[in-house]
Amino acid sequence: MEEQLTCKESENIIELVDLTRVFEDGMVAVDKVNLKVKKGEFVTFLGPSGCGKTTTLRMIAGFDKPTSGKILLNGQDISGLPPHKRPVNTVFQRYALFPHLNVADNVAFGLKLKKIKVTYERSDGSRFTKVEKLSKAEIAEKVNKALKIVDLEGFEKRSVSTLSGGQQQRVAIARAIVNEPQILLLDEPLGALDLKMRKDMQLELKEMHKKLGITFIYVTHDQEEALTMSDTIVVMKDGEIQQEGTPLDIYNEPANSFVADFIGDSNIFSGTMTGKLKVRFLNKTFECVDDFAKNEKVDVVVRPEDVFLMDEGKGQVDGKIVSSIFKGVHYEMVCKIGKTEVVVQDTKERKVGDKVSIYIRPEDIHIMAKEFTANKYEGYITKKNTVVFGDGEFACDVTQLYPGSFLDEEGYLITAEGEKIDLTDVDVEVEVGLKDIDLNDVDTLEEEGGAVGNIVSIIYKGDHYQVIVRTDENEEDYVCDTEYTWNENDRVSVSIKPEAIRLKLKEEVKR
Ligand SMILES: Nc1ncnc2c1ncn2[C@@H]1O[C@H](COP(=O)(O)OP(=O)(O)OP(=O)(O)O)[C@@H](O)[C@H]1O
Ligand SMILES: [Mg+2]
Repeated sequence: MEEQLTCKESENIIELVDLTRVFEDGMVAVDKVNLKVKKGEFVTFLGPSGCGKTTTLRMIAGFDKPTSGKILLNGQDISGLPPHKRPVNTVFQRYALFPHLNVADNVAFGLKLKKIKVTYERSDGSRFTKVEKLSKAEIAEKVNKALKIVDLEGFEKRSVSTLSGGQQQRVAIARAIVNEPQILLLDEPLGALDLKMRKDMQLELKEMHKKLGITFIYVTHDQEEALTMSDTIVVMKDGEIQQEGTPLDIYNEPANSFVADFIGDSNIFSGTMTGKLKVRFLNKTFECVDDFAKNEKVDVVVRPEDVFLMDEGKGQVDGKIVSSIFKGVHYEMVCKIGKTEVVVQDTKERKVGDKVSIYIRPEDIHIMAKEFTANKYEGYITKKNTVVFGDGEFACDVTQLYPGSFLDEEGYLITAEGEKIDLTDVDVEVEVGLKDIDLNDVDTLEEEGGAVGNIVSIIYKGDHYQVIVRTDENEEDYVCDTEYTWNENDRVSVSIKPEAIRLKLKEEVKR
């Protein structure tokens, strides 16, 4: 009998309880993750690089210890159990086969080291236990079985260096399943393969999962791979679970705009609810089926295949095709409406420059609550070190872009390291707090910069008003908390103190 944790019948084979890993440098790689994995399930951790997938897997395997929280295996805490005592095997992101060993020896490597307890019976009926190695015949049998599952029968004597990438990866998988684990952990096992091979291997892995009947915990940052293979997808970001569900759930009902963006190509627009089942985005009010409070700021998600193209003037909003690529079955086109790009998939081609109109059905408009704590804009720095955003130009403190920097007399930025940087036309992300926006009658302040717009909404929030000012040109919104009373349709100018304008570089400036 193998000296492994005996498995009690329980529906959840793995349970993560507030699982947390904080690295020595303070990096919170996994942040209070709670998850239940059912026996026999194919679960995929999906998320961008650095979101904590590998760290989570390493803790399940026992290669890394949680800072806090628990890992339960069949209901028992396994925190104290070393990796080799866990009924778990791992196929790593970068699989390492032994180049000097043939296929069979690579697969058998772990088995040869393995010691098992064997119980014998003496002639008088008493029993004794001995620790032994597996016999050659036992090893050969297990290796053959594993190679059969990964479809590499007859490859036993081949040198691994003569195998294709896909075949090598199958050897790595055989090496993991030869130990007959209850759980197979796979960390981006197909990352090194080319696209065609990946697709084949995805199907093969799915088949193997069925054949073996064990639990697979799979890690990938490829959403298509996750959608094809998994029973359950766990979407992660910054060490936290964003959503957990079947591929269909996650595709059709993303919990937030991050998930929507990560799963499939989505259009995500910033919108405002303008009435019951009415949402405004792309400078136009659309009917929708999700009920949100009036004036609420929302994210609007529309899949490219749900945008219909019509002739100019015939749909809901007009725009112009700015790109069109044939993708095999359909064309992927980008339609520019105002300054917003809308990705469209259609089997009918429209050419670059064509004037079109888009149509989106109410049920294809998915609305998600936006946690609205600050106004956010995309902007750029001018030659005068002011910032342009939200249809206005504002004085700001550009030195915040480089900690410890200052401006020299010519207006160039000098970094803490003494480097000179020209910020003209550099793209920035701008954030302005709701309380940091001052409104004034339009004629008083116009020459001092800022933006101008109309008050489109006023909500009383108990001790203050929340006012939305919308500009004319691009319908940019300024949401402000104010104690003063204004009226709808008042024309106002927006001013913001330079120190209240928070700037972040969109990307590192080339020096
Ligand atoms: N030993 C370590 N010390 C400090 N930080 C670490 C360590 N290992 C990982 N991290 C950090 O923890 C975070 C999560 O890393 P992890 O490897 O789990 O991400 P991942 O989701 O697997 O990413 P990828 O898709 O790139 O493999 C990252 O920011 C990473 O830099
Ligand atoms: Mg990783």
